[in-house]
Amino acid sequence: MGFIGLANRSLILIIGIVIVVVAAGIYYMSTSSGPNGEYVTPTEIVTSPKFMKGEELYVDYCSRCHDAKGVGGVGPALSASNLDRSVIENGDLDEGMPAFKEELSPEEIDAIIDYLSS
Ligand code: HEC
Repeated sequence: MGFIGLANRSLILIIGIVIVVVAAGIYYMSTSSGPNGEYVTPTEIVTSPKFMKGEELYVDYCSRCHDAKGVGGVGPALSASNLDRSVIENGDLDEGMPAFKEELSPEEIDAIIDYLSS
């Protein structure tokens, strides 16, 4: 076996390692589970249409009072613990929280709640 044989063996070894690393990466990504237990990759969660829509709606309708990051400006910071659906639908008019049931569909409110609780 000459030089070429040795080079080929190294090449085959390197290709083998690459395949193992890539396969491990794919396996790892495919086993990260999503919020409902389904298997999704992290990038799929962030770029899923529902998440994007919730973020867009939040920025359009809520962030002027609740701040772009949900930290609270005029209104309180919003998080999974205080996402009261009836407040979003009916508002708390005396306290300055508008009602959104005329402006937003139930699906749109779902999307905002999903976005804020993620
Ligand atoms: C005009 C300003 C304003 C806008 C726009 C607004 N909010 Fe509010 N929001 C408030 C204020 C002020 C309160 C606090 C009311 C209170 O003290 O009871 C509040 C309260 C809330 C609460 C109850 C929080 C708690 O701690 O009880 C939720 C949930 C909420 N807002 C969600 C939203 C969502 C979702 C949107 C967008 C669809 C939105 N708000 C848009 C001003 C606003």
